[in-house]
Amino acid sequence: MNSQLRVPEPRPGILDIAPYVPGKSATGHATSFKLSSNESALGPSPEAIAAYRDVADTLHLYPDGSSAKLRAAIAERHGLHADHIVCGAGSDELLALLAHAYLGPGDEAIHTAHGFLVYPIAIRASGAVPVVAPEHALTASVDEILARVTPRTRMVFLANPNNPTGTYVPFDEVKRLHGALPERCLLVLDAAYAEYVRRNDYAAGVELVASAGNVVMTRTFSKAYGLAALRLGWAYCPAHVADALNRIRGPFNVNGPAIAAGVAAVRDQAHIDAAVAHNEEWLPWLSGRIAELGLEVTPSAGNFILVHFPAEESPEETTGAHAADAFLSRRGVVLRRMDSYGLPGALRASIGSEEANRALVAALQDFMSGTL
Ligand SMILES: Cc1ncc(COP(=O)(O)O)c(C=O)c1O
Repeated sequence: MNSQLRVPEPRPGILDIAPYVPGKSATGHATSFKLSSNESALGPSPEAIAAYRDVADTLHLYPDGSSAKLRAAIAERHGLHADHIVCGAGSDELLALLAHAYLGPGDEAIHTAHGFLVYPIAIRASGAVPVVAPEHALTASVDEILARVTPRTRMVFLANPNNPTGTYVPFDEVKRLHGALPERCLLVLDAAYAEYVRRNDYAAGVELVASAGNVVMTRTFSKAYGLAALRLGWAYCPAHVADALNRIRGPFNVNGPAIAAGVAAVRDQAHIDAAVAHNEEWLPWLSGRIAELGLEVTPSAGNFILVHFPAEESPEETTGAHAADAFLSRRGVVLRRMDSYGLPGALRASIGSEEANRALVAALQDFMSGTL
């Protein structure tokens, strides 16, 4: 054997992970509307942009490794204990840290069939086995999740509302799920889109985190707060979970400009109200217009919609999701293909600016009427 040809190998299972493919950015079209990553149509608060600029002169200094000001601002806004909040470089980092801290070889973690794709990546990266619970009508099913709990189950990931389907699980059902899970099993409630939800039977999960020892809620600044580029998220956890995460996270995992902008963003409630009001106006408008074109739209509680196209029988097909994606891209409208989510017949569209939403409907109308 020629030992010089040998290279270090990652742990078993790492190379089985399909890398996450983010939504496309540009089309090369003069006017481009990026509706592929559920970003905010309004962008960040002007206060957050100003705070970000203000720290430009101190980039040589390490940030506060405990994100204390940010945790205090979040705690004040939501009426939480700052000690139970852990901030991360996006909620993606917190999801990975949770898996890293609580899962290992021989363990299983459950996610739903069309759940957020970071879950299986985080689970496999920890050496554990992802177990998929089928959904009903593209919605997480508590019974299907519970049916897959075994003595090896250590974690359940539930995006609520879920990306990419936009569907949600009422809080009573979340409580039923929690009540039936073994105590050794951590329930991760990923509430990345919570700000947008306008449903009386929905709750992000604060109440459960506060009353149980095995529930964590994750949140993000990437969606309603419009700060996706800064990579900022937070988790609300029981003290013992916060302690575990704080032991393994990078000492300066949240950067200084993100902390500064995050503090200002949390305090600018008027901006969040405006972002939510925009969504309340355009989510039904976009869903309705697209349905009128004869396409099925999954009812969404978030800031995006899943649009279903007729099945493509051959690659030459011109009516399916792939053809629509190519057509829309040529018109400068970028949506997200859903093949990796097991939904090849669908495209996901963020609720964009008025101009973007109108451009999407106009382009889809032309696509449906065969105007190429
Ligand atoms: C359900 C869900 N959770 C978490 C995230 C990750 O957000 P962040 O930008 O905070 O890492 C996303 C982003 O698309 C998401 O859809």
